Amino acid sequence: MVASTQNLHHRSVRDVLPTTASGNGTTTTTTATTVNDKNNSKARDTHVWMYLVVHDVTEPIMVEVDQIYHLACPASPPHYQFNPVKTIKTSTMGTLNMLGLAKRVKAKILLTSTSEIYGDPQVHPQSEDYWGNVNPIGPRSCYDEGKRVAETMMYSYKEQSNVEVRVARIFNTFGPRMHPNDGRVVSNFIIQALQKKALTIYGEGDQTRSFQYVSDLVDGLHALMNGDYDGPVNLGNPDEFTMKEFAQYVKKLTKSESDIIFLEKTQDDPNKRKPDISLAKEKLGWEPRVTVKEGLSKTITYFQQVLDEAGEIIPTGPGASKPQN
Ligand SMILES: NC(=O)c1ccc[n+]([C@@H]2O[C@H](COP(=O)([O-])OP(=O)(O)OC[C@H]3O[C@@H](n4cnc5c(N)ncnc54)[C@H](O)[C@@H]3O)[C@@H](O)[C@H]2O)c1
Repeated sequence: MVASTQNLHHRSVRDVLPTTASGNGTTTTTTATTVNDKNNSKARDTHVWMYLVVHDVTEPIMVEVDQIYHLACPASPPHYQFNPVKTIKTSTMGTLNMLGLAKRVKAKILLTSTSEIYGDPQVHPQSEDYWGNVNPIGPRSCYDEGKRVAETMMYSYKEQSNVEVRVARIFNTFGPRMHPNDGRVVSNFIIQALQKKALTIYGEGDQTRSFQYVSDLVDGLHALMNGDYDGPVNLGNPDEFTMKEFAQYVKKLTKSESDIIFLEKTQDDPNKRKPDISLAKEKLGWEPRVTVKEGLSKTITYFQQVLDEAGEIIPTGPGASKPQN
């Protein structure tokens, strides 16, 4: 369904289009949100309108907006590897469609790119001037290369058509309301630990990740969109853990006596991942405010509630990446 533009309200307020929403896996959903952002309006005059538009970004869309937060793309490896062709279409055709829309209505557009564009990095920590080390034909390529070409499209539209672009390179982010079958390490470890099941590490557990809490990311995206800097910016928490350390940490916070088991390493899993956030500090005045411990505590409380309602949950792993016949 596409909202006809005449049904949207007057343009004196700010129209924001986030291209993502509650969805299930590769189900395609677009949300249009409208916010009165007049600085001089009195509090009682401030209104928020929301229009939900269910739409696949690989198809063009006509709406009148001022800002586009282009988030649509499955981000968990089991999810994006389930239908790699759709994943790359979402990052390529979807981004072209959103850029075409931004050009037509003169909207500012922000792409949620990823630390995955650095691939298996040979530079540590990763700063924005590093070009990355990505396998173009591996199981992760539909996501990594999709985001790399999406970044290229953003800067091509800027150069050629003066579209105002913003690119956030997001590092691993977590928080309450993640899907229990998301399949990424934070939700998997917590769900396993709370159920006293073994925490599953793929490989020897020496690979590192750095985890940021979701509210910090939202603050960073907002600062990037509404600031002047238009180069790519890392948004992440530099607090780095090996997967072995992280499994122990989740066990400690959940007071779990689960075992930790080691399964076969997944192909092209990056060995190290830690953002250099000097640029975000300098250009946006942004840095994470929520510690990993605080964020994990809130997320553990959330998943305990989910488990209380759902009973048993078997987390998604790499084996779920293909349809089972
Ligand atoms: N969460 C992270 O750690 C992280 C890290 C790096 C980058 N990112 C990026 O941030 C964005 C959001 O990540 P997330 O973790 O919320 O992902 P997610 O997989 O949890 O959610 C993705 C959303 O995109 C929607 N979607 C997928 N394909 C679509 C299409 N063709 N049309 C419309 N909607 C579509 C899905 O329905 C879902 O609502 C993604 O672009 C992702 O690449 C996230």
